[in-house]
Amino acid sequence: MTQTLDTTVVFRAAMSRLATGVSVITTRTGSSPVGMTASAVSALSLDPLQLLVCIGNHLFTRAAIAQHGRFAVNVLGEGSELLARNFAASKPDKFTGVETADDHGVPVLKDAIAAFVCDVAEALPGGDHTIFVGDVIHCEHRVDSRPLLYFAGGFGALRAPH
Ligand SMILES: Cc1cc2nc3c(=O)[nH]c(=O)nc-3n(C[C@H](O)[C@H](O)[C@H](O)COP(=O)(O)O)c2cc1C
Repeated sequence: MTQTLDTTVVFRAAMSRLATGVSVITTRTGSSPVGMTASAVSALSLDPLQLLVCIGNHLFTRAAIAQHGRFAVNVLGEGSELLARNFAASKPDKFTGVETADDHGVPVLKDAIAAFVCDVAEALPGGDHTIFVGDVIHCEHRVDSRPLLYFAGGFGALRAPH
């Protein structure tokens, strides 16, 4: 089915009102780290522990996840807008100056407020995206952390609680 440009523009504008957290999905190709910014991330299942991420079919990171079979979701904290913008660019040197640990076969960002290391359980078709269902093999988080948010095409933060 085809859709008009207008429908796509309205859909994108309406979806931009869905405030989300911001994550960097990381994986590797051979010895090189790979990563991209993503907002399409969701918890999926408690038994087994699973989450899902939606990645554009044409993206370099999509092919890298499919090939490596493991990825990490790195949840960004308040103030990490530069990291989010860096990993939203399609370029080869995204990890320059970015501190990571690699205890589980994929890079985990030192600045993440939570991280989930996953093995690919399923790669499902989702239109022009692929829905990767991941079995969570490790997760960690920082207590007292605050998230980076994405809303209406811009980055923001939670207002301080009263
Ligand atoms: C806030 C934000 C959220 C994004 N969320 C997603 C997402 O959920 N899925 C996706 O495929 N691309 C998403 N993108 C776009 C990718 O980050 C972008 O296409 C990136 O260049 C892909 O990296 P790669 O080309 O190195 O694979 C998002 C971008 C931004 C700025």
